Amino acid sequence: MLIELHGVKKDYPLGKTTVHAIRGISLSIEEGEFSVIAGPSGSGKTTLLNLMGLLDYPTEGKILFEGTDVSGIRDSEATRIRKTRIGFIFQSFNLIPVLTALENVELPLILKGISSKERRKKAIKIMEEANIMDIAEHKPDELSGGQRQRVAIARALVGDPDIVFADEPTANLDSETGLQIIRLMEEMNRIEEVTFVFSTHDRRIISLAKRKVELRDGKIVNNVI
Ligand SMILES: Nc1ncnc2c1ncn2[C@@H]1O[C@H](COP(=O)(O)OP(=O)(O)OP(=O)(O)O)[C@@H](O)[C@H]1O
Ligand SMILES: [Mg+2]
Repeated sequence: MLIELHGVKKDYPLGKTTVHAIRGISLSIEEGEFSVIAGPSGSGKTTLLNLMGLLDYPTEGKILFEGTDVSGIRDSEATRIRKTRIGFIFQSFNLIPVLTALENVELPLILKGISSKERRKKAIKIMEEANIMDIAEHKPDELSGGQRQRVAIARALVGDPDIVFADEPTANLDSETGLQIIRLMEEMNRIEEVTFVFSTHDRRIISLAKRKVELRDGKIVNNVI
């Protein structure tokens, strides 16, 4: 099992009150999955993805990453796991505006201290798979939304992660482009053998996932394969 959650809760303090964003979730993610976290706005999708991606800590309960308890690890250790094992894709793409597409894809490898020759080779391979080598020298503001998200997908995959989390990766795209982005993720799930967990509230996109986890008010109300 890649990731396991046992009775996970997440509270946020809000003024004098407490928001119970995740109210007791137990869930396992297996290697190779292509899964969606669905649910209305405020149901806890982002919070759950952030917990599974080690960007946040649970208030209660346990999170295991490949069998190791990561619920109470130090920030530096969480960062190390994220850097080497986890990729992220965001709804607003989060590319660096002054870098070209190719440089954006190479960035995670620079942070890992990989040599420039090796970096270039890996970035080009993944960009070829994502079908974006023709825009390698373009900067983000010279790209369409769909192209930007392809670059972000390549960037998430270039470090050869075990799992990629994508929080509403199609929210800023028209529905046809959104479908193409999910199909690219599907292809990468197959050829790169990377596990994908993404969130959306788009019905058409939910139907493309192999497994559907549905949230309401911080709880799982449906979990179907
Ligand atoms: N940092 C925070 N501080 C206080 N409350 C928060 C914080 N982050 C999230 N929440 C609350 O937790 C609940 C779940 O939020 P979350 O962002 O996970 O929902 P979501 O399903 O991703 O929604 P959306 O579809 O709008 O992105 C909401 O009630 C939200 O207001
Ligand atoms: Mg969200």
